[in-house]
Amino acid sequence: MKLRFLLAVLLLGAVHPAGAQVVYTQATSASARSPDGRIIVTLRLNGEGRPEYSILRAGQTVIDWSRLGFILADAPKLERNFGLARIEEKAIDDTWEQPWGERRYVRDHCMELRVTLQEKAGAMRAFTVVFRVFDDGVGFRYEFPQQASLPWVNIVDELTEFAIAEPATAWWIPGGEWNRYEYLYNRTPLAELSQAHTPVTLKTASGLHIAIHEAALVDYSAMWLRRVSGQRLKAALSPSSSGPKVSRKAPFVTPWRTLQIASSAPGLYMSDLILNLNEPNKLGDVSWVKPFKYVGIWWSMHLGTKTWASGPKHGATTAETRRYIDFAAANGFRGVLVEGWNKGWDGDWFATGNDFSFTEPYPDFDIVALATYAKKKGVHLVGHHETGGNIANYEKQLGPALDLYAKLGIDAVKTGYVADAGGIQALGTDGNIHFEWHDGQIQSRHHLRVVTEAARRHITVNSHEPIKDTGLRRTYPNWVSREGARGMEYNAWGDPPNPPEHEANLVFTRMLGGPMDFTPGVLSLTGANGRRIQSTLAKQLALYVVLYSPIQMAADLPENYAKYPKPFQFIKDVPVDWADTRVLNGEVGDYATIARKDRNGDDWYLGAITDEEPRVLRASLDFLDEGKRYYATIYRDGPDAGFDGASDGHALEIETRPVSRHDTLQLKLAPGGGQAIRISTDPGTAGMRSSPKPKPKKPEFDVE
Ligand code: NOJ
Ligand code: CA
Repeated sequence: MKLRFLLAVLLLGAVHPAGAQVVYTQATSASARSPDGRIIVTLRLNGEGRPEYSILRAGQTVIDWSRLGFILADAPKLERNFGLARIEEKAIDDTWEQPWGERRYVRDHCMELRVTLQEKAGAMRAFTVVFRVFDDGVGFRYEFPQQASLPWVNIVDELTEFAIAEPATAWWIPGGEWNRYEYLYNRTPLAELSQAHTPVTLKTASGLHIAIHEAALVDYSAMWLRRVSGQRLKAALSPSSSGPKVSRKAPFVTPWRTLQIASSAPGLYMSDLILNLNEPNKLGDVSWVKPFKYVGIWWSMHLGTKTWASGPKHGATTAETRRYIDFAAANGFRGVLVEGWNKGWDGDWFATGNDFSFTEPYPDFDIVALATYAKKKGVHLVGHHETGGNIANYEKQLGPALDLYAKLGIDAVKTGYVADAGGIQALGTDGNIHFEWHDGQIQSRHHLRVVTEAARRHITVNSHEPIKDTGLRRTYPNWVSREGARGMEYNAWGDPPNPPEHEANLVFTRMLGGPMDFTPGVLSLTGANGRRIQSTLAKQLALYVVLYSPIQMAADLPENYAKYPKPFQFIKDVPVDWADTRVLNGEVGDYATIARKDRNGDDWYLGAITDEEPRVLRASLDFLDEGKRYYATIYRDGPDAGFDGASDGHALEIETRPVSRHDTLQLKLAPGGGQAIRISTDPGTAGMRSSPKPKPKKPEFDVE
């Protein structure tokens, strides 16, 4: 039910066009509290009329006085000599339904504070700072009204700061470096952070967890965080080679700057603040957006046994694709991704991306026959548009490329932008190619163009080398997933490969932004040239639950799945769409246990992962229904399991046993290992059909 009401217009002034008389409020500050009263945000003007804000939680300062404002390209900066022209407050309490997601219903419960600032002299320019104060954090954004004194806003940078009050440990990847978002996470004192992409996750000396990110990044440059001194971070907008970092005609709003604040790492993950700060679905009926699992002609290219390019090792042949379609149909996968199907991969494809055609298949790939064959088998091809970062070439072909897919019943496309950061080639208004950033304003516009064009044709989008996720799936539910971090591919050829702590870092950093197409499930545990992947089999299974995405790949080769039929059963069983999600335990970069309930049934699934340390984690099953009998099929690391060469990553124990909501499991994880559990109400699917009705017995060694 929607319940929005205006609580109070506290102090009224009036914003007038430049030159007219403005009535300012007498106030020099304004505050708002979260619904539970614990978080307080205050905006104040200092003696120079310079706006700054602070955040308190339970009486403790979280964000010390931090500046707000802008440096402009063609006008004096918006920084000081402001008065408060208007202050308004309202409560929001709204519950909305996700078409797909980690949970079905999301509560948006916060207090909104709108403070309009207007210069006291000169051009008398105005903007509004809007805060939303939730029990689990704060979002704020700037709103620019239409005004004669600032018709266009050409932003060189934001003055927005985040002065972290307490010393903290920071988990972060560098921002503004060549490899986009594909870095290993640093864990350093905050005072050693240089420039970072968001989300940046912090744990303060008193144990508070803070994640700084943004929401609703639309037609604007992404925010990096630069440490200016001590513990003070400042927004640094991703650059543009075409002029100011952001150029917008007023009226417009900026993305929300978000601070998720919780007393634990699980609390950060459980926050829906970023989704709540995005606009509701703009696409109307999205029942055509289907969460799905997929296999594909993919890992073989990363192993180097096949090629994207044409030639004797070409992966995307008609025969090989049929083999994958058959495999998908036999094992219940909806999708078959095929990379390297189209002309343009020969030679140095990521040098320019000029040669890519998005409508012409290689001659040994019969796209029409394969789409027909897939349909007959109840399977869908998943399209692939690798652009090499050349969006000028891609945008020219976008309409016909998507039309081709729509005509063939291909209702999902994976896009790719493999180019070094700063290497996106965009067509400027001057008719020339401009080199842009993957997360600048131009690329933010490009992604939404692709997503909305795809939506018109009922096609879902999964972007690799993307712009970071800021929750836009709420507004555009066909933008189902993206990469935007080091995924499984680094275990094929990465130097170094992903270490055991990588996924435990992702859960509490990258995943706070939204779904990731990590592509787990390499049960062979083997990368290129036979290199051992630093994981266990059980952990590969757990990743399907722990790393959320409404599309999940079973990334390994069909012949490898044939070798591991029992663990493969978990990949076949695990859903990709959830009614509910609970984080049972976790520490950033160390471990995490997540339980999720199937959106289309009664079953729960649980995944636990650890870093290089062996652990015993406790997991209370009190999320299960009272009075219902459940059967847990447990996939746990065997005694010899571990991530390094000396251990047996494939050592796995599988056991099915009855459980109830009164049980607490002890999850034993090997170094670099994990555990995956299916908790089903159906003894048949849990493998207990043939056994006599199980008596409620005292559970054995790993149940308390
Ligand atoms: C990088 C993507 O992350 C990967 O999944 C893809 O196979 C290659 N680019 C080629 O497009
Ligand atoms: Ca990539």
